[in-house]
Amino acid sequence: MCDKRNRRSTRALMVAGVVGLFGCLALLSASAYGQSLTGRWAASGGALDNGEQRIAIFELKETGDQLTGTMSSMGFAATPIKGTVKGTHFELFGPWDEKKPFVTGDLVNGELQMVQDGHDHWVAKSATASDELPKVAYIEPPPLHKVPSNGLAKTPPMGWNSWNLFQGKIDDQTVRTMADAMVTSGMRDAGYIYVNIDDTWEGVRDAQGNLPSNHKFPDMKALADYVHSKGLKLGIYSSPGTRTCGSYPGSYGHEEQDAKMFAAWGIDYLKYDWCSAGMIYKDEHLQPVYQKMGDALQATGRPIVYSLCEYGLGKVETWGPEVGGNLWRTTGDIRDEWSSMIDNVEKQVPTAPYAGPGHWNDPDMLEIGNGHMTDDEYRTHMSLWALVASPLLAGNDIRTMSPVTKSILLNKEVIAVNQDALGKQASPVKNGDLETWVKPLADGSVAVGVVNLGSAAAKATVNASDLKLAGVKSARDLWSHKDVKFTGGAYSAQVPSHGVLLLRVSAK
Ligand code: GLA
Repeated sequence: MCDKRNRRSTRALMVAGVVGLFGCLALLSASAYGQSLTGRWAASGGALDNGEQRIAIFELKETGDQLTGTMSSMGFAATPIKGTVKGTHFELFGPWDEKKPFVTGDLVNGELQMVQDGHDHWVAKSATASDELPKVAYIEPPPLHKVPSNGLAKTPPMGWNSWNLFQGKIDDQTVRTMADAMVTSGMRDAGYIYVNIDDTWEGVRDAQGNLPSNHKFPDMKALADYVHSKGLKLGIYSSPGTRTCGSYPGSYGHEEQDAKMFAAWGIDYLKYDWCSAGMIYKDEHLQPVYQKMGDALQATGRPIVYSLCEYGLGKVETWGPEVGGNLWRTTGDIRDEWSSMIDNVEKQVPTAPYAGPGHWNDPDMLEIGNGHMTDDEYRTHMSLWALVASPLLAGNDIRTMSPVTKSILLNKEVIAVNQDALGKQASPVKNGDLETWVKPLADGSVAVGVVNLGSAAAKATVNASDLKLAGVKSARDLWSHKDVKFTGGAYSAQVPSHGVLLLRVSAK
């Protein structure tokens, strides 16, 4: 038990002396101060919901209090990581976030005991030659051609998605009760039609290559039938890689088979998330790889909205429609935070010319009602998503919405701006802390939003001359639901910090 490898340095022994009274365990933890983290480590984590054991390989080099190296995990080959060491404790940072460690851990008795993202436990042992991740055979991407439009999503898709709130804790029962709530809350009748299951539904591929759902979704077809019986549609999630972002099996090499299965289940929407495909393919392959699933979906003959999720890589907005895509993410994942929400919508400003009926830029799903922004901030979130013609996929618990959350998500006048048939994406003009977004609408009127990015309330002024209208006939405040008057060619109102003034202005 008291492994000799752990008793090397005098520093370790000194520490061991002090804590010696606490016995062998304490001696071992303390003596681990003498052991280096340098080496190749085979890590195993908790089982996935499909029963598969999660595995990863860490190659680490300790230099002073710094760590460098790589991490490979199921589907994800050698990603560079860095870290810091203090005594037996260490923290690891991935290139996706250099400020927040994704792993914290301790070297205990020659093992790395790690916690990933604050909740997933991993243990790593010194790796042997046989500790390897499965090798992936390269499949050449197909030659490019144009996938015909599926004619869907003439206005931005609206619905609900499981990821933002539930992540891996989603199952058949939750989806059914959410579907019920979509009806009873009025969400369905306001246009929120898609109920989308995100990652972690996947089982294990069988010998014939079929990918069943896991125990959380005992009968996907029956679930689709239930959702359809409520006048709603069902969405699902997969990846062009071998593994999804949550490490579940992806559709790599099984695109047609999976598309057929989705169609047979009665699926109406697919979110297709790049994830581990980035380990096999380069950015220049994004288009043919997405085209492959676009073709496979069309070959099923079932109308299935095709949502590309590759975080805006490779100027997706310029080729998304050519692979049969109806919407594509333009950014990384949204968080339920003001700065994340604003960053995402601002990052997609250059994509504005590419939005239109059937093909939309997607700054990610809504966080409204998830609790970490103020009501003013959530009203701004909804207003901006409406102004930029983003898909409106609620990410909160529809079953327990507060009256304020309801009033935001169900604001019909704001939804009408989002769903406007012209399909234009507003762009901002900045004036100090105030940012003005103007969206031309099909009936010749415009929606204009003035967002207060500052930390104090401010007076927002909308000038008729900035709206490119011949003259103002009428104007309406879409949050107070009141008509307002332009005087001297302008309308002004006080806007709270992080709040919004949202008007619909009609031309003379
Ligand atoms: C990625 C996507 C998220 C979500 C997760 C699921 O991070 O961007 O929206 O689908 O994967 O693993």
